Amino acid sequence: MHHFDLKDGVLHAEGVSLEALAETVGTPTYVYSSATLRRHYGLLREACDAHRDALGEALIAFAVKANSNLSVLATLARLGCGADTVSEGEIRRALAAGIPGERIIFSGVGKTDAELAFAIDQGVRQINVESSAELDRLIAVAADKSAAPAIAIRVNPKIGAGGHAKITTGGAGDKFGVPVEEAMALYARASASPHVTPVGLACHIGSQITDLAPLEAAFRVLRDMTEALRAQGHSVTRLDLGGGLGVPYYGDAATPSPADYIAMAARVLEGLNVETAFEPGRLMAANAGVLLSRVIQVNERTDGRRFLVLDAAMNDLMRPALYDAFHDLKPVRPVEGEALPYDVVGPVCETGDTFARDRDLPPLQAGDLVVFMSAGAYGAVMSGEYNTRPLAAEVLVDGARQAVIRPRPTYDEMFAREPMAGWL
Ligand code: LLP
Repeated sequence: MHHFDLKDGVLHAEGVSLEALAETVGTPTYVYSSATLRRHYGLLREACDAHRDALGEALIAFAVKANSNLSVLATLARLGCGADTVSEGEIRRALAAGIPGERIIFSGVGKTDAELAFAIDQGVRQINVESSAELDRLIAVAADKSAAPAIAIRVNPKIGAGGHAKITTGGAGDKFGVPVEEAMALYARASASPHVTPVGLACHIGSQITDLAPLEAAFRVLRDMTEALRAQGHSVTRLDLGGGLGVPYYGDAATPSPADYIAMAARVLEGLNVETAFEPGRLMAANAGVLLSRVIQVNERTDGRRFLVLDAAMNDLMRPALYDAFHDLKPVRPVEGEALPYDVVGPVCETGDTFARDRDLPPLQAGDLVVFMSAGAYGAVMSGEYNTRPLAAEVLVDGARQAVIRPRPTYDEMFAREPMAGWL
């Protein structure tokens, strides 16, 4: 569900014409819909609240890595949303956007001592500990401060799932978390330390998961462990169920609804009496954003291949190059005529800069505007300036209002970040 629709023959983001926006802000530009962000948070909130008996006061902690723009985070912060963070930078962003420390979870496989210290100082809700080595370092850092931060142990349930091997995190060989037996031992060790307060368990098995079965299996692992830990006399009051639910990138794709997902979690945790947290990233942001781009030209080769050359490239939207990801491409002004197969590419000098092969599209011409749909998660955050292409601008729309929330840098601004070596 999103708010990018045709009005008067032109694609709009809520009340804003993408054609008009391209004129004023230029392209390539990410455009986000506040109403879509609010709707997604609202659906999850409603589902969690309907299952309060099984899920407690569930925290919905947006995975900041999916879209860390400050205005996007502030939009969610105003709704009461929390944050799942994986670096000091992301904690700083969440705080700057108005998400209080008590709604911030700090996860990640390699947190530095300095980052752990920062998280303790900010009073984050919990630190998810992912390894024995990290527990040792956290205890040392906390001891230095005479602190005892709340922690959860991240379990690797040996259940991997997700849209691509590179975004599967719960498999036995994946770097995240510790296996069940080790997690039990770490919990006991943490309980014996005066410098950490183990409050629960966490898991996150992958991203773009389109089937509830592996998630359910992982939640059952956490349930069984909670019961086993309690039987050993430990207190377990929180379960962090991670994120990972997929979104329909293809127009007609069916993915489990947020309501079904939350209901499944409630079913698994019924009667366990824990407070839960969910860490949705893609689910909240993907369909809340598009990447607006202009056709530079169409290269019709004599060998029959037809390349649609856009002014957006792999540096702006890496997902197709990295994960062979599919993003629907739509003209901003519907074009009449029979669809033709195009290879959709950007101007970057490598073949990896291919968004789609043999994609059937209406006949497009130089100057036409197009959008990549479902680009609000893992789009702008993963972009770079390869080929010295300025970072795409970002715009937030709210009804008829629009704001540039990250301007496209000028070349002078880009070069100013690189002071010349003194001897040159
Ligand atoms: N929690 C943890 C601990 C995570 O590692 C992640 C994502 C999430 C939550 C949010 O997962 P989501 O609900 O968005 O699936 N760049 C890739 C996705 C990487 C996801 C990494 N972890 C992509 O573009 O598909």
